Amino acid sequence: MIQITIDGKNINARKGDNLVDVALANGVYIPTLCYMKGEPCLGTCRVCSVKVGGTVAAACTVPVSHGMEVVVNEPEITDMRKALVESLFAEGNHNCPSCEKSGRCDLQAVGYEVEMMVSRFEYRFTPRVRDYGSEKILLERDRCIFCQRCVEFVRDEETGKKIFSISRRGANSRIEINEELANKMTEEQVARAVDLCPVGTIVEKKIGFNDPIGKRKFDIKSIRDRALEGAMK
Ligand code: SF4
Ligand code: FES
Repeated sequence: MIQITIDGKNINARKGDNLVDVALANGVYIPTLCYMKGEPCLGTCRVCSVKVGGTVAAACTVPVSHGMEVVVNEPEITDMRKALVESLFAEGNHNCPSCEKSGRCDLQAVGYEVEMMVSRFEYRFTPRVRDYGSEKILLERDRCIFCQRCVEFVRDEETGKKIFSISRRGANSRIEINEELANKMTEEQVARAVDLCPVGTIVEKKIGFNDPIGKRKFDIKSIRDRALEGAMK
């Protein structure tokens, strides 16, 4: 066992454990969008930014070590996390009231957690055409935050090949789907892909999201409560 401090509180942890998990297990919620417990860290969204030894770091990329001093809830770093979430809203077209994933969207839920009201950045309204090409999946490209969860964690069961990919660069980046491989996806695989997308980009055709507003995941319990509950189990 090693000792670290989070916001001045002494915490015992196992060396090398992920800082997001250690914090959660000790009742400290750090927002995440690309990190999935048990999966390799992607480090793409930076929404989990905290201070480690005075330097800003993405908590999901940090394995804990003895003597580490972590600051999660202090105005400068809290505002930095808020700014990161705001920049994601400004970059895509996130029209929550008309999105099938409203109420079960991680980005929306994290927006509430960081107490975002409006983005401080200019909205870009980047035009990105939808992709209807595959039989079971619709890609609402406007909403993609390029977390790369689908790219890394959804693969063709037979060949292990990637089904999703990101084309182009910078502001022109676009999520793509390999139609041939996507058409071979099982129902369970499609459901998992829809679920692991933290926003409403991957939509199952003919189904959308069946639960009515008010009965959806984060309508019932906040992302913070769900994360803390999962960690305490
Ligand atoms: S489609 Fe969803 S899961 Fe894939 S990169 Fe975009 S936001 Fe992430
Ligand atoms: S959750 Fe840590 S970088 Fe995305």
